[in-house]
Formats: sequence, structure tokens, C-alpha cells
Amino acid sequence: MAHSLELREWAVSILSSDTLDGKLFAPEKLTDQNPGPPLLWDEPTRPIGMEFKKLKKSEKLPPLHDLHDPNKRAICLHRFAGHELLAVEIMAYTLLACPNAPTHFRKGLANTLKEEQEHVRLYMIEMKRLGIQFGDLPLYRHFWAHTKYIQNPVDYVSTMCLTLEMANLDFAPMYKAVFKRFEDSDAENLMQRIILDEISHVSFGYNWLKKFKPQEKTAYEMWADSLSPLITPRHARGPIYHPEHRRKAGIDEDWINRLCE
Ligand SMILES: [Fe+2]
Ligand SMILES: [Fe+2]
Repeated sequence: MAHSLELREWAVSILSSDTLDGKLFAPEKLTDQNPGPPLLWDEPTRPIGMEFKKLKKSEKLPPLHDLHDPNKRAICLHRFAGHELLAVEIMAYTLLACPNAPTHFRKGLANTLKEEQEHVRLYMIEMKRLGIQFGDLPLYRHFWAHTKYIQNPVDYVSTMCLTLEMANLDFAPMYKAVFKRFEDSDAENLMQRIILDEISHVSFGYNWLKKFKPQEKTAYEMWADSLSPLITPRHARGPIYHPEHRRKAGIDEDWINRLCE
């Protein structure tokens, strides 16, 4: 495998790979000399058995009070790993769709992408411990549906960092608490790691949103105006709200209060 790749080549290799190793590959060095014209990727190629399936009602996540059962915890971790793989692919999509974004933004996005690849690997370790492999259960299109609305860096940070990743500032602690309650410290520790990384991913999005926004708009307004039409501000939080994690990400109090409403 190459030691050095252009961001564009790397993103293409992630989206077109039919192996998990290919999806999780990162070269030692990434360059961005030739971002090329915008390229809107239709759907990612997936390893056999990991293609997008239609989500059925019966495939809802197990209720929290059932998570004393390791098999049920494995189902949750599999779903979360699926979200991480989607994050990898959506970030690769954005690198291809937004070649004109500032190089500094693209490099930061590439760093986040590598952390999402690491999250997939970490979930794979926990799934193995609980007796399943990534791909044993169905995987879904979920967030991929937003990609057609990602046409510039603002669209990306609003939908991905400041909604989907921001919501995980509530969901990850919720699962962390449940795994702790059922004495699965490995799964609990993984959720703590995810919370810390997610705080930095949200912070990345917020800092860029502020750079891109006109002075007369608040950050909250800029965000709410640039969301994917498939989501609303309500999607940026979970059932139990954690303002403290948003403060750590640098989100302003106006925004924190408005999400509370
Ligand atoms: Fe992640
Ligand atoms: Fe993330």
C-alpha cells in the first residue's frame, strides 16, 4: 500500500473498497495538491454482507434495561460500529464533494476521518469479545441519506459535526451509564473514549461554522439555516441533555439554551 496519498485518492479508495481493511486504511502521509473537480459519490461500495439493508421496525435497538444480556449489548455495539463506518464514508464523500474548501479544513476533516476509522476498530474489538463480528448483523443507509445535501463545508459541519456528532454527546453517555450499571467496564471505557473524541469533532465543526458565518447571524441561526432538510434542530440532542459536554466543545450559551427548549 502507498505511504503517501492525495486526499482525493484516499477518499476514492475508501468509498470504492469492498474490504473492511480498505475502508479502514490510512496512509502515513496525506497530501492535498490536486483536490480536483467536485465529485458526488452515489453510494459506497461495501464488503459482501455489509451492504445497506432496509431498516425494519423489528430491528429496533434492544431496550436499555435488557442490556445486562451480553448478546443484546453486542447488538448495540454492532449498530454503533455501523454508524462509525458511515461517518468514515460520509467524511470521504465530503472530501470529494468539497474540493474547494480551505486546505486547512480538508486536513482537519481527514484527521477526524482517521479517528472514525479507529472507532470502527475499537468497536470491532468489543464485538469480538461479545462473540460477534462486524457484518454479522444488518447494516443500514441511515445518515448516508444526508450526503446529497452536503455541497459545501457549512453543510457538512452543520449536519455531521453539529447535529449527528453533537447528538452523540448525549447518546454515548447514556450507553456509558448503562454499560457501567451492568458492569461491562470495557464497553463503558469505550463509550468514554467516544465522548472525548466526539467533543473534539463537535468543536472542529463549531470553529469552522463561526469562520464561515456572516457577522449578522448567530452561530445557532447559521446552523439551523444550513441543516439537511431531513433533520431538525431536535436531532442534535438525545433524551437526556448534557450541556457540559457542549461547553467542553466550546458551544456558546445561546445555542446550549436553545437546544434545551
Ligand atoms: Fe466516531
Ligand atoms: Fe465523530
